Amino acid sequence: MKFFVDTAEIDAIAELNDLGMADGVTTNPSLIMKSGRDILEVTKEIADLIDGPVSAEVVATEAEAMIAEGRKLAKIADNITIKVPLTWDGLKACKVLSTEGHMVNVTLCFSVNQALLAAKAGASFISPFIGRLDDINLDGMELIADIRQVYDNFGFETEILAASIRSVNHIADCARIGADVITAPPDVIKAMVHHPLTDKGLAAFMADWKKTGQKIL
Ligand code: E4P
Repeated sequence: MKFFVDTAEIDAIAELNDLGMADGVTTNPSLIMKSGRDILEVTKEIADLIDGPVSAEVVATEAEAMIAEGRKLAKIADNITIKVPLTWDGLKACKVLSTEGHMVNVTLCFSVNQALLAAKAGASFISPFIGRLDDINLDGMELIADIRQVYDNFGFETEILAASIRSVNHIADCARIGADVITAPPDVIKAMVHHPLTDKGLAAFMADWKKTGQKIL
């Protein structure tokens, strides 16, 4: 399973990239706003840092304007993935841009039918939002499982990019179900390391080691 980092913060991306834990990056208009950076500049910086796909989102709502924005974003670097919303116009833009050879990430997916449409429109990635479904008392993980089953039923090659991830449990569940990619905030990825028995075991080893009076270096 690939790990994408869901942020436009360069330092956080660089830290995970150095550890081989940033197979790609996803951004959206809210993350660009939080970074306080210019979208073209920060996207270029991220795309230069990361080998894998870097999603940059269009902000137009009509197909022709989305296509124009998508083409401009794609010029930033070869590894740009154009992110379009899951609307009828977004699907039109997806079809045109993917036919031109661009990677397209169709975002704001909340149903299996939407995921089917995106795959048929040539999306490289579909982004179902787990956390936002959980927020309204629906089951985000059930959507990931449903899309996995439907894509496998028909051999669609669109990758499932599980998004709106809020906890380490979301990541483990996505791995069990077989999501191709998760995109998560840096803090959630880093929180995966924690286990109380690791901390307890290490403390006991350190205490015993101190009693030996030995040194390795
Ligand atoms: C994914 O591409 C989105 O940027 C992101 O995962 C949305 O997450 P949120 O629902 O926590 O804002």
